Amino acid sequence: MTAVLDVREAWKVYPGTPPVESVRGVSFTVERGELTTVVGASGSGKTTLLNLAAGLDRPTSGTIRIAGHPIENLSDRMLSGLRAHRLGVVFQRFHLLTHLSVTDNVAMGLLYRGVPAGLRRAAASEALERVGLSHRAGHRADRLSGGEQQRVAIARAVVGRPELVFADEPTGNLDSVSGAGVLELLGELNRDGTTIVVITHDAKVAAAGRRLIEMRDGRIVRDSGGTP
Ligand SMILES: Nc1ncnc2c1ncn2[C@@H]1O[C@H](COP(=O)(O)OP(=O)(O)O)[C@@H](O)[C@H]1O
Ligand SMILES: [Mg+2]
Repeated sequence: MTAVLDVREAWKVYPGTPPVESVRGVSFTVERGELTTVVGASGSGKTTLLNLAAGLDRPTSGTIRIAGHPIENLSDRMLSGLRAHRLGVVFQRFHLLTHLSVTDNVAMGLLYRGVPAGLRRAAASEALERVGLSHRAGHRADRLSGGEQQRVAIARAVVGRPELVFADEPTGNLDSVSGAGVLELLGELNRDGTTIVVITHDAKVAAAGRRLIEMRDGRIVRDSGGTP
């Protein structure tokens, strides 16, 4: 079966004197249904790697396959389409449109799929139900607590039922109780069949993942599971 994500010898080098080698020859494969946690000190290359794996940035060298498609063969437009249909991303700073309603924020997750507005709103309601926020659907996003805003961001990421969801330190801006709730939610989504890659520097978060990948200085120094 085709892996959801395959990263082979990926490098990301930012030009400069000296150049910054943020990701240095990283390889790993994520199979459908996995919940993978990526840990590592600040500056170890986690976000850079996520940006490559999620097709938000292109590697300097190496191959990234998303659902079997090598992204280096895709135009920017095709890559955007692939991302819109198959991936969801959750960031540490929720990146909500604060003046819009919760429902409209979640519906934004379908904007690039050409789904008509009515269907976007219906799907948004369903996604809000999945994250336990139906009762906040009509509120402005900035009236919600941090934990609730992150749940909205997760609903936006999963509204199109993507195969793969990335979360980059999704609990980094939350208190421990809200953070635990967000992790619990990611676990539930995983049990429902969504493949998840979550980045964190929080040891407690790391324990929640089944597979643990540790990064140091741009390399994977430990991988508890997955394919060799
Ligand atoms: N756009 C960029 N230009 C130059 N260096 C960068 C850029 N983005 C990240 N870096 C560097 O790459 C390294 C890894 O950063 P990052 O991936 O954000 O690490 P982490 O998410 O693990 O904290 C850091 O040294 C950082 O300064
Ligand atoms: Mg980071």
